Amino acid sequence: MLRFATIGTSWITRQFASDAAVVGDISLACAYSRDAARAAEFAAEIGAAASSADLPGMLASSAVDAVYVASPNSAHFAQALAAIKAGKHVLVEKPAALSAVDFQTLRDAADAHGVVVLEAMRTAYDPGLARVASLLGELGVLRRASLRYCQRSARYDQVLAGERVNIFDPALGGGALNDIGYYCVSAMVALFGEPAQVVARWVTVPGGADGAGTILAGYPGLVVDLGYSKITASSLPSEIEGERGFLTIDRIDSPRVLRLTRLDGTTQTHEVPGPEFTLAFGIQRFVDLCRDGGHAGADHARTLGALRVLEAIRASARAGDGS
Ligand SMILES: NC(=O)c1ccc[n+]([C@@H]2O[C@H](COP(=O)([O-])OP(=O)(O)OC[C@H]3O[C@@H](n4cnc5c(N)ncnc54)[C@H](OP(=O)(O)O)[C@@H]3O)[C@@H](O)[C@H]2O)c1
Repeated sequence: MLRFATIGTSWITRQFASDAAVVGDISLACAYSRDAARAAEFAAEIGAAASSADLPGMLASSAVDAVYVASPNSAHFAQALAAIKAGKHVLVEKPAALSAVDFQTLRDAADAHGVVVLEAMRTAYDPGLARVASLLGELGVLRRASLRYCQRSARYDQVLAGERVNIFDPALGGGALNDIGYYCVSAMVALFGEPAQVVARWVTVPGGADGAGTILAGYPGLVVDLGYSKITASSLPSEIEGERGFLTIDRIDSPRVLRLTRLDGTTQTHEVPGPEFTLAFGIQRFVDLCRDGGHAGADHARTLGALRVLEAIRASARAGDGS
């Protein structure tokens, strides 16, 4: 039984609690909030045994084996590092850190303390992405791909009304790239590896965060464009094109319907069972790593690669900033 403490009291931690119950062999030992009353209320809501508004105290508790970090992006690094140094395994929401160097620090600290750190990137552990990868061989030489995730956030209306909203606050590591765009980046790195070059442009919203963007990523013999937005919506699917066919993917964050079209005119539809949105596959991977002391080298390489790509995207978009 892995005894979890949680950091963060928003809907994603509620989702974590219900998906952890599906995974099983997990108990919720403690819910942390910066506010004691909210911590107590939230602990009762998710069925955690205790609550805390004292982070160092909670991390020192012998009743906690692992910590799920679901705070704003800018808080991940310090909270994850403190938990690791206290000897706790850490499952940290995406992006795990704001730079690859910071994630490398977490990884080194986890090695030094004999614990696991894992980025809770649900797409990476979704069986739908594994099915996409298994079908790429049907396409012949890969030449082009378009990965897209565009979904207008209701919180954009608050930004337009002049409110400060965490997810669109650059000071908290907010912005659409770190949020919805990261699914495209992570899927691209998982499927094709790290690109040789990226060129990016984005548009910003009041307050300075990026709201939407387009990225062009170059590989030897392959080009990939990524489209992401939290201020507009789109019904276009993602698509991967090879010299013998193309694969149409309903949604890149959790692929469920994959349509393979061969250039000989034949088509095949592959349906991937499973809920549209779940953290369960990533939680399962984390539990397995904690239990079996398995090696997270490939998981970390993907996270580090994706974080390096995020940094290259930011640098390119800022250099060409026309927004
Ligand atoms: N895997 C997924 O599909 C998925 C989906 C959504 C979000 N996420 C990730 O989950 C994380 C949280 O996102 P969110 O939109 O839920 O964030 P959020 O609502 O802005 O903050 C999450 C929690 O962190 C605490 N918090 C708020 N502001 C803080 C601050 N300035 N410093 C420290 N703690 C603060 C709050 O808890 P207390 O006030 O009670 O302490 C809040 O409930 C992000 O990393 C995001 O990328 C992942």
